[in-house]
Amino acid sequence: MLKGRHLIEPMDFTVEELETIFKTADGIIENPEKYSEVCKNKLLATLFYEPSTRTRFSFESAMLRLGGKVIGFSEPNSSSVAKGESIADTIRTIACYADIAVMRHPKEGAPYIASQYSDIPVINAGDGGHQHPTQTLTDLLTIRKYKGNLKNLKIGVCGDLKFGRTVHSLIKAMSRYENTEIYMISPEELKIPDYIKEEVLIKKGVKYHEAKTIEEAAPELDILYMTRVQRERFFNEEDYIRLKDTYILNKEKIKYSKKDMIILHPLPRVNEIAYEIDDDPRACYFQQAKMGMYVRMALIANLLGVL
Ligand code: CP
Repeated sequence: MLKGRHLIEPMDFTVEELETIFKTADGIIENPEKYSEVCKNKLLATLFYEPSTRTRFSFESAMLRLGGKVIGFSEPNSSSVAKGESIADTIRTIACYADIAVMRHPKEGAPYIASQYSDIPVINAGDGGHQHPTQTLTDLLTIRKYKGNLKNLKIGVCGDLKFGRTVHSLIKAMSRYENTEIYMISPEELKIPDYIKEEVLIKKGVKYHEAKTIEEAAPELDILYMTRVQRERFFNEEDYIRLKDTYILNKEKIKYSKKDMIILHPLPRVNEIAYEIDDDPRACYFQQAKMGMYVRMALIANLLGVL
């Protein structure tokens, strides 16, 4: 039962509950008209304390396409946050007006705190360098569409594995599917945090490899998941400049990759995928962004219990 639940991290929902959301998304993709009024008279609040294009616009378009309405802010200083209001008080107030809330925040754990004070479902839209569960729903729906299922897949995650919250959430989520194999491609300074390695990969017995270059892993992969280096999480600009162009995916680097490998990226892209890759049939990152809207429609409808 998903009605009334919060989504703070990908493991909040079981594999079966995720499948319910994906099946709803399948239905929406097949027949959007059928769902165009299911959220009539419902209100979504978007509380974005950090910049966003895809997550905010896909949530807003998702609610509008379900027949609901949207309120919110994309600039916290336009709200009473600027006067020092706490997250607990903000969410308790928003819960008086809206039926469901989506929160992005630079501080890890902020959406969790909000959920503890909220009578309405709270969805984590990204908290610092921690988790981004709705990006993971997007990624899983996209992988499921192109690969047919979520089992027996070799996934290469490349770039900023230290600060990249989408990768943390994706690894956690994929660790629950049979025979997942993870290839982690990063420079030494941007390696996956130890807690992901120890508490997820080792604890769950997920087979994993570490690589320094895309070329050494690419021929094995079913999915190559590129990420940008997260400038906003660095303490030191010099380190960012030194590391930002470590990986630039081009045609040469995937010369020996499988013909049906798919290339994903949560976006925004900065420099890590050359534009020449956009025409490659394996490039799926803009279709992935579209899947984000469908899966968020499915999520909202299930959490509101309107189906
Ligand atoms: N993928 C993602 O979270 O993009 P935005 O930061 O634009 O929302």
